[in-house]
Amino acid sequence: MHLTKEEDRILNGELGAGTQKAMELLVAIGDAYDAEKMIPISRAHAASSGQEGDLYFVELLADGGAKCKVPTSTNPVYDLNYFHKLFDIPKDEAKVARRVMQAYKRVGAILSWSCVPYLTENIPLFGETVAFSESSATPYVNSVIGAKTNREAAQSALAAGVIGKTPKYGLHIRENRKGTILIDVEASLKDEFDYTLLGQYVGKAVGYGIPVLTGTTRQPQTEELINFCAMSNTSGAISMFYIPGYSVEAQTVKEAFQGDIPQDKITVTDKELKETYDELQTTSGRIDFVQLGCPHYTLKQIAEVARMLGGKKIHKDVSFWICASATTKVLADKIGYTKTIEKAGARIVVDTCIDEPCWIAYKQKVGMTDSPKCAYYRRFKDVVVSRLEDCVDAAVKGRWR
Ligand code: F3S
Repeated sequence: MHLTKEEDRILNGELGAGTQKAMELLVAIGDAYDAEKMIPISRAHAASSGQEGDLYFVELLADGGAKCKVPTSTNPVYDLNYFHKLFDIPKDEAKVARRVMQAYKRVGAILSWSCVPYLTENIPLFGETVAFSESSATPYVNSVIGAKTNREAAQSALAAGVIGKTPKYGLHIRENRKGTILIDVEASLKDEFDYTLLGQYVGKAVGYGIPVLTGTTRQPQTEELINFCAMSNTSGAISMFYIPGYSVEAQTVKEAFQGDIPQDKITVTDKELKETYDELQTTSGRIDFVQLGCPHYTLKQIAEVARMLGGKKIHKDVSFWICASATTKVLADKIGYTKTIEKAGARIVVDTCIDEPCWIAYKQKVGMTDSPKCAYYRRFKDVVVSRLEDCVDAAVKGRWR
């Protein structure tokens, strides 16, 4: 990969050990993908995790004096003080999480601790070149916003944020943003959960590629798209997709395939969505908890939970958690949603991911969620996936079916 004089100086350590390590990683990635050069980025999102895998690299950069050159937001970890009051979190796990959070602060990252930063804290515009990691963030940024990012890891996104550049390869090149498979959606998509099931199915069926979805009969809503992104990029590796007519980069199928005729096609009917749903029914009976907000719930979703929980009481043996960004919770507090939700016995928690050691108390428990991604991480003994209204109903009754 060709480097400028300035990039060479960084690589040689002339601007500090932290930026040198960040550059070494980017150059290694660029070489692996035959990138011709580095290109500037305007923002990054590091899928921090508060766990061992994250700690080594962020501390390496922080100890070496690196600072983010462009706005770089962070994924959720958890509020150590809050969860320590509730649960007996192992000291070594908490220590790692604390060190990770401190290191991101030292490198000057935006301490958003949210997995939907593209809605509030770190929003790219159409055409921007960025480096975003996190399952829903990468496809959302590429497909809904029309900015350009590769499917970054926490480390490569952080390195790009520190250098302010990324190697030019993959989805930064127009030809690589071409659709690879046509998905004919005959299934009736009524709500967010249908988009969740669609994402789960498409990710599994396609694996790796750029699906082009036809047959959707109305403008998809933000939350529906977030769910599709998160699930298709968890059950598969979908960094980008098109819904011609609604995608900013392709108004027609022809544009999505850059003039080519699609070679592969999958049809998704109600039958496939029903089978996907059935696969997620891993248990029934008594439940111990409900876990929502994977990805972090938006204000609209919190409003819906408040409406459903209004005047109800959650079963005494069930804990009910909603993960959201701190920004969203401020508004939920002001509007009064938090009060309604807490009155029913549920809680909104900020800065927190469902895949964190703070949930240790639920390790042997059975719960419900509306997110297959939450079930995928297997932090709990068993997690059934169903619609939000089913989760609320089960939380009140104390059992699912
Ligand atoms: Fe967000 Fe963690 Fe789920 S990052 S999408 S809450 S696994």
